[in-house]
Amino acid sequence: MCGIVGFVGRDHAKEKIIDGLKRLEYRGYDSAGIALPINGKIEIRKHVGEIKNLEKIIGDADYDSSAGIGHTRWATHGVPSDVNAHPHGNSDNTIAIVHNGIIENYQEIKERLVKEYGITFKSDTDSEVIAHLIGVFYKGDLLEAVNKAVAEMRGAYAVGAIAAAEPDKIVAVRKDAPLVAGIGKGCNFIASDIPALLKYVREVYLIENNETVVLTKDDIKIYDEKGNTVKRDVFHVTWDADAAEKEGYEHFMLKEIHEQPKGIYETLTRRINDDGTINLDGISMTKEDIEGFNKIYIVACGTAYHAGLVGKLIIEKMARVPVEVDIASEFRYRDPFVDENTLFIAISQSGETLDTLAALREARKKGARILSVVNVVGSSVARESDDVFYTWAGPEIAVASTKAYTTQLICMYLIGLYMGSTKGTVDKELYTGMLEELKALPDKVERILQNEEDIAALAKQYHRREQVFFIGRGLDSGVSYEGSLKLKEISYINSFAIAAGELKHGTIALMEEETLVFALATQDFLYEKMVSNVEEIKARGARIVAVAKEGRTEIEKVADQVIYIPDCADEVAPVLAVVPLQIFAYYVARYRGCNIDKPKNLAKSVTVE
Ligand code: G6P
Repeated sequence: MCGIVGFVGRDHAKEKIIDGLKRLEYRGYDSAGIALPINGKIEIRKHVGEIKNLEKIIGDADYDSSAGIGHTRWATHGVPSDVNAHPHGNSDNTIAIVHNGIIENYQEIKERLVKEYGITFKSDTDSEVIAHLIGVFYKGDLLEAVNKAVAEMRGAYAVGAIAAAEPDKIVAVRKDAPLVAGIGKGCNFIASDIPALLKYVREVYLIENNETVVLTKDDIKIYDEKGNTVKRDVFHVTWDADAAEKEGYEHFMLKEIHEQPKGIYETLTRRINDDGTINLDGISMTKEDIEGFNKIYIVACGTAYHAGLVGKLIIEKMARVPVEVDIASEFRYRDPFVDENTLFIAISQSGETLDTLAALREARKKGARILSVVNVVGSSVARESDDVFYTWAGPEIAVASTKAYTTQLICMYLIGLYMGSTKGTVDKELYTGMLEELKALPDKVERILQNEEDIAALAKQYHRREQVFFIGRGLDSGVSYEGSLKLKEISYINSFAIAAGELKHGTIALMEEETLVFALATQDFLYEKMVSNVEEIKARGARIVAVAKEGRTEIEKVADQVIYIPDCADEVAPVLAVVPLQIFAYYVARYRGCNIDKPKNLAKSVTVE
């Protein structure tokens, strides 16, 4: 987690660093800070809370420089506070660092620094040890001191360091945390992620694990672990810089909800040829590979995991192979049955989620083939996979994921269809029928978005509730989990999802007069069963909002309100059914006055275990 930015150029470092940090706030926003070398000293300013709090204390014209580093934090070690905020300096502030990640052996290093050098620590963070370590090794060469410090550090990190004695230089290093170097004209940058830099540069170097990068205003040098110079191709960013702006929407989340038709369309059209075949550009998986898989694991976290719940049912149905879906943080510690005949599918918007990355590495060690579904091009998960299905959702800024989820679902259909048609388990009729259904989705999502006001009215009616349930069967069950997560993430309502058939085995005890329940009933073959489940809770006085396909009106007999989605095949209904739930969550949070794009305690990219 956390976001880091560094700039080295001619002037106005402060403005560029703050601008970059604002675009990284999705990585954490409990405190922020900046360090600039000024007149032979490093001046550090930091403040608890969002970047706007920091801006208030760094307004003075004298506080600027030609280089510097900045940080936006998501607390791991030490509460959010001014003192725990980054950057951290060594004892006399001749060195300053920003850090994203966790230094696992920081206690050990700290004890040694206290004992051997009498260093007094100011903060409760693990990161402060890095500044002191570099400080004790520094003999006039920042690169050498960083290298020596890194040799002592265990854990995950992207670190940016500056030295007062070398004011026009930044040294940065990464291990299991993202880092890019931006190539400017007469200036250069580092950042945790490309969007932080898009206002200034379109060309970047993607820094790999265990590499160190040295930046001056005219030069970027990359070194590998052994200190050899690395030649890296320039990565040209093709996305529109405006994609990371709000464009008139009140929140990124609302903008991103509205971008779903485009994201779905892009994700589909980049993979479907004019003749209706699936385009496998960049995918090396062969027919023999596909026929050889006897098991698939889909592994992910959060919303991406919920895409996996839907993906399991789709891929099992189409490719007729057992699929297990696992939460990444659980997968790696349970010695799963993985071998050379296993396909491991990682789903991740950011491609940097540490749990997902670690699970992927675990699966690779055991011989699995790795396919990933990722939004951020060039991210760690993408780079460590054999094959990548990109979601073309564009940059997702709001912490609560929306367009990444629906485009992840599209990839699940494409993977299922491709594997199924290769194995012969999907016949021509199903294949062409599914493609038609998929192609119709952008327009159908657009139709749901046109009902935004009706869903907002429901949100207004229910926004004071403190408990909401989501139920569904089959594919609707997976969507229930996602609907529930959206609501709790941004409105802090205690929401709970459960397979509708399981209700009667316990959770029904919680149903009482006026308990609010969202009942998803989009699966035709389960419709009657779903209506019966709704009857059971209706009989306990629950208040029901159903989500159903147009024309399936029987549910009106038991539901208090029904949100209709356009008619479609059962298989693709999750892509439509989730949209009203996203809109509902968004408006509930808005009526409750919540910080929608940056909910409390969360971060968009979770690069700690
Ligand atoms: C965090 C975010 C979630 C996201 C999850 C997985 O917890 O708050 O919104 O779903 O990470 O992220 P990924 O980037 O791997 O999809």
